[in-house]
Amino acid sequence: MSKLVQPHGGGALKPLLLPEIERKEELKRAGSLRPVPMTSRETSDVIMLAMGAYTPLDGFMGSKDWRGVCAEMRTESGLFWPIPITLSCSRELAKAIKDDEEVALVDGDTGEIMATMVVSEKYEIDRAFECQHIYRTTDPKHPGVEKVNEQGPVNLAGRVSCLSEGEYPAKYKGLYLRPAESRAIFAEKGWSRVAAFQTRNPMHRSHEHLAKIAVEVCDGVFIHQVLGKLKPGDIPAEIRTKAIQAMIEGYFVPGTVIQAGYPIEMRYAGPREALIHALIRQNFGCSHLIVGRDHAGVGDYYGPFDAQHIFDTLAPGALETQPLKIDITFFCKKCYGMATAKTCPHGKEDQVNISGTKQREMLSKGEPIPPEFSRPEVVAILREYYASL
Ligand code: ADX
Repeated sequence: MSKLVQPHGGGALKPLLLPEIERKEELKRAGSLRPVPMTSRETSDVIMLAMGAYTPLDGFMGSKDWRGVCAEMRTESGLFWPIPITLSCSRELAKAIKDDEEVALVDGDTGEIMATMVVSEKYEIDRAFECQHIYRTTDPKHPGVEKVNEQGPVNLAGRVSCLSEGEYPAKYKGLYLRPAESRAIFAEKGWSRVAAFQTRNPMHRSHEHLAKIAVEVCDGVFIHQVLGKLKPGDIPAEIRTKAIQAMIEGYFVPGTVIQAGYPIEMRYAGPREALIHALIRQNFGCSHLIVGRDHAGVGDYYGPFDAQHIFDTLAPGALETQPLKIDITFFCKKCYGMATAKTCPHGKEDQVNISGTKQREMLSKGEPIPPEFSRPEVVAILREYYASL
């Protein structure tokens, strides 16, 4: 019996990637199907389905699931799900597709056939309804809202069979772990209390402190970073990985952390995104998700702890994976160390407040970054990258 949390939904993991021996034939057949181009977010969702990260979904959601997920965080069958997983297309294409037609889902950027899908439903969505529930705003400047506004007017739903994980397995060898693989690693190490640390940034001292708090109370930490598309200005995955590795090697006890990445494309949905981050980590075998300040937020759309509070509103049993809620972490000049308001009695004037956004600003202006802010080994890697721009 595994000591790890169960996959979401209580059954087995459900990776939708076809076994390798079947893929070649299927790809040939898919070449003759009607192509449906996907946005980068939709392609990323196909890969998430392929690897089993969206267990127990078996494809793109229909209108009832879409509505239930937006309004009540439940699919029609009652499954807890906080963010709609949907595929869009143009009106012309939707009109041409027949009921139950099998189509080929194609990466809109590379032209690669990623999956086949039997179209069981075509429906139009109310974009404002989706945005208000998921992003708590309809402001077109919010990057998540912007994507919803840009997507096609008709959603296609249906069961998906995945044929490719794109460039991820080769490009991120060793870093790209599927849920079955992370579970096997945790089981081999004898871990059961595993905290996931979600990030899209190179890790500064506040991030390091959050991960270390988790190391203290768990068997280990899974530093799990976003490999999908980010906002302009975010630091690319190759550089981030190197910087995180330098921090792990210099400042963590060997064997207490595992660095990995996954192909999600951030939606910047703050609280709702924190919930799907926890759900996904349950599939990866993590019992906890570290949720700090403004988790998965952007701009000032969300309060700093909205992403923590939303977990208190869930029905019991909605998720097995629990949030590890941690206050804002900072360097205190009087304590001469990392702290939070719970552990430091000194004033704001003694605090060095650390954020990825501020660090990116300092780097792009070539300003010095003190060791209280980020480890020198990490800064050196980031500087080299900024100098190459
Ligand atoms: S994101 O996916 O949540 O956007 P980011 O890299 O910005 O990734 O943050 C990773 C995690 O660190 C999140 O849980 C976030 O809440 C937390 N975090 C970042 N900075 C701080 C801070 N100064 N204090 C507390 N938590 C923080």
